[in-house]
Amino acid sequence: MTEIRTVSTTPFADQKPGTSGLRKKVTVFQQPHYLENFVQAIFDALEGFAGQTLVVGGDGRYYNRQAIQIILKMAAANGFGRVLVGQGGILSTPAASCVIRKYGAFGGIILSASHNPGGLDGDFGIKYNIGNGGPAPEKVTNAIYARSREITSYQILAAADGDLDGVGEWRLGEMVVQVMDSVTDYGALMESLFDFDRIHHLLTHGGFRFCYDALHAVTGGYGTRILGDRLGASLDCLQNCVPLEDFGGGHPDPNLVYAHDLVAKMLGADAPDFGAASDGDGDRNMVMGQRFFVTPSDSLAVLAANATLVPAYRGGLAGVARSMPTSGAVDRVAARLGIECYETPTGWKFFGNLLDAGKITLCGEESFGTGSNHVREKDGLWAVLFWLNILAVRQQSVEAIVREHWQQFGQNYYSRHDYEGVESERAEMLMAELRRQLSSLAGRQLGGYGIRQADDFCYTDPIDGSISERQGVRLLFEDGSRLIYRLSGTGTEGATLRVYLERYEPNIARHGLDPQVALGDLIAIAQEVAQITPLTGRAEPTVIT
Ligand code: G1P
Ligand code: ZN
Repeated sequence: MTEIRTVSTTPFADQKPGTSGLRKKVTVFQQPHYLENFVQAIFDALEGFAGQTLVVGGDGRYYNRQAIQIILKMAAANGFGRVLVGQGGILSTPAASCVIRKYGAFGGIILSASHNPGGLDGDFGIKYNIGNGGPAPEKVTNAIYARSREITSYQILAAADGDLDGVGEWRLGEMVVQVMDSVTDYGALMESLFDFDRIHHLLTHGGFRFCYDALHAVTGGYGTRILGDRLGASLDCLQNCVPLEDFGGGHPDPNLVYAHDLVAKMLGADAPDFGAASDGDGDRNMVMGQRFFVTPSDSLAVLAANATLVPAYRGGLAGVARSMPTSGAVDRVAARLGIECYETPTGWKFFGNLLDAGKITLCGEESFGTGSNHVREKDGLWAVLFWLNILAVRQQSVEAIVREHWQQFGQNYYSRHDYEGVESERAEMLMAELRRQLSSLAGRQLGGYGIRQADDFCYTDPIDGSISERQGVRLLFEDGSRLIYRLSGTGTEGATLRVYLERYEPNIARHGLDPQVALGDLIAIAQEVAQITPLTGRAEPTVIT
């Protein structure tokens, strides 16, 4: 007999999901009842799941396994019929999305703090995805939060921990736990989208050199199986592909700062032709050519312009979307193709309705996230395979492809300056000050740049009409340049101020400069308008991408 226990608890005040679920220090999650309260709040906010299937998996970071055992027992006690769980508790975020969709699950719980560091002193996270495979929309996360504020008890099965390592089924009370291979379904989906024969040929003939860096995170297993076993990439192309609970002490964020091994290799004298990396939970990607960095905004634009070279998108794109701070490079491609380009707030959840309604095929964010209608999350390996498919067809270097793109469409110089770990009060004050100035900024001249419009981005979802306010302060200049300020919704310590800078350059002779130089004037204006140094006490950003 397995007994369902009802455990009394009291609410935690800080369980408000951010840009992508609830993220806190591991030690916060380890407090008695902390995880359980949030999981019960998720279940209480949902309706109609009795007997249904739930998908559970995570990025393998420290505390993943313990959390999964708790969630399984709570899912059983709350009446789910079946849980699909990745072997060893592993599912990359896009693989979880794929599995939810493929098996018609009611929803899924993904354990990840994405690109944040892991380990005992690192971060942990949990988020709920709905039946379309995508992050829960705000009305669901708001309901979860509201419930977390008033919770008085949770339900959990009194049972021993089960085996997560062997593929197969076992029972937890009335519920069936099905441990599934973490890669098979996702790998089959990738094979259905891309020309694997052609990519295999590229990777195994003609001296094409390639490096994939999993940053010791979840895509280690996916990369080894898909790029290595299936597509023939040799083992020495697959760097840091052994997943570790603390990511080897690194910061599993694929950008120029944190993917240092890959960046050093790609900028070195003997650089491979193509380099790529993914983040902690496998939804981000960074793409580089030989001594050449592709900005995520440009990557989205290049993928859109070349989509018909890939089997899945041969028939053309329904439309595209980008988050508001992402550069307008893809807008130019959409205009040329005669398709719609939507501008959404930061966060993947805002793409879900557009994808479900068939309005868009590709979408992306400046924060190293790109994806399509194949799942409802951004997808790191998918982007790498997309690039490999294009390279296999075009037989040109990454740099040549991007430069040709700029010749056709112009270059959107772009950079993001992050000020991490700023005291929350100071950061809030800076944003409040900016908002206060908005009405007087429009029409003003700053360092030779005229401000056409100054506002706080407000989004009305074109599908369900829901409104999301205060999504970032924008200064839009006469010449199309943009300056955007917002506070991160994913951090776990203090506040992170993000400043996004963009300037359009049609002149070919002025392409390919160092973006920090090309954006120099705007960088100075950004500092000045927001009084960043006086208000934050910081002379420099901590991360520039
Ligand atoms: C950051 C990125 C955002 C992305 C999110 C989840 O959120 O800026 O584009 O969707 O991580 O990966 P932020 O910390 O800015 O709220
Ligand atoms: Zn991620």
